[in-house]
Amino acid sequence: MHLIENFKEDLAQMRTIISESSGPSVKSWLSVLRPSVFLKLLKLAISQHISPAQVGLAVGVGVCVGMTPLFGFHLLLCILLGSAFRLNKLVMYLAANISNPVLIPLIVYAEFQLGSLISSGQFESISIEVVNRGVGSWFYQVLTGSLVLGPLVGILLGFGVYFFMIASRARENTETVYDNIRIEIFKAFRKHSRFFAGYVNGKLRFDPVYRDALAVVPKEASILDVGGGVGLFCIYHHLFHLGNPVSKKIVVDWDDERVDLGKKVSNENAWPIRYQSKNAFSDEISGHFDSILLFDVLHYQKKPQQDQLIMELFKNLNPEGVLLIREMNSKHQIKNFFTWLLEKLSIGLSFTKATEVSSRSVNEYVEILVGLGMEVDWQPCARGVFFSNYLIVARKLSS
Ligand SMILES: C[S@@+](CC[C@H](N)C(=O)[O-])C[C@H]1O[C@@H](n2cnc3c(N)ncnc32)[C@H](O)[C@@H]1O
Repeated sequence: MHLIENFKEDLAQMRTIISESSGPSVKSWLSVLRPSVFLKLLKLAISQHISPAQVGLAVGVGVCVGMTPLFGFHLLLCILLGSAFRLNKLVMYLAANISNPVLIPLIVYAEFQLGSLISSGQFESISIEVVNRGVGSWFYQVLTGSLVLGPLVGILLGFGVYFFMIASRARENTETVYDNIRIEIFKAFRKHSRFFAGYVNGKLRFDPVYRDALAVVPKEASILDVGGGVGLFCIYHHLFHLGNPVSKKIVVDWDDERVDLGKKVSNENAWPIRYQSKNAFSDEISGHFDSILLFDVLHYQKKPQQDQLIMELFKNLNPEGVLLIREMNSKHQIKNFFTWLLEKLSIGLSFTKATEVSSRSVNEYVEILVGLGMEVDWQPCARGVFFSNYLIVARKLSS
């Protein structure tokens, strides 16, 4: 009884849309052909019953309908069944189009053979006798086969679509989490500096390093961000793992403007991040950490100083801790030129407090880290195809 009620409800809904657009007369059913009414009905068809389970079921049932040899009635069946079982009719009809000129011969042949297997226990080769048996007999045989093959393919595709939707919704939800954090950080900085607010917003939106690092730095890790500027990664990490026990997070940078701004914003928002104004290459860095970051910092000094800092920081790293280095890679010459140019520009415009840009190949860093007995992994991690940056993840082994 419910099924008929559902159908009546759908009809009433359609009638409302039509009469709203063209008056309540019965003739107004013809106005389905008017573009404005058609669009409204299409919108309704798209937006109805779209949970992953409903769409998966609509695909399954649509495939079953489409695989029957009731050609010419597929649309009607989709409307009736969709209405009665509250499924998305558009999805059903799209799925029913599994019977299309390309697949029909294959489907009909498979169903014909399956029908033969079900009714006579064996496959049947196509011969003159079979042809002479008449349309009614083939139709019955194909229909029999379709009642088995349809549900099989329907279940397979229906579940496929269901799991795909579940996975993509989960991904969307994660995107929203990242976006919310970015917006929260942006707003916090905007109270003090529109310029830095734009900078952190752009960095979090377009620079993959923060998310890549988030995947490597455990939630409970103590973190040292060397040359960490306003402390973007530590803030990001803290907000992402909100609710977990607070871990030690220290940002070291020699640019007082950045350190002061980071301190101010973090204090205001009760983000537990400590800032130290230091020259990372010459001042002593004390303490031990689970994760140490060097994002886009090493190239501001010459190679021997870079090596020296890596070796010093190795001592600050706990066993099983990770050292993350994001650097430009001189091996990709053209991309590296653009990366180098951007850094030069940033220094020239006094945005970054530094004097030189000394790039080298990622392999050189890897050699140093392997030489320290670390387990090393690296991958491209740049803001776009024009830049050469890599993220190197080096783990300090416990023994
Ligand atoms: C390109 S920014 C990267 C900021 C941060 N690591 C991030 O990825 O969000 C480079 C930072 O390194 C800092 N820096 C450069 N040389 C430094 C040094 N000798 N000691 C401490 N910080 C330094 C700059 O002040 C700047 O904040």
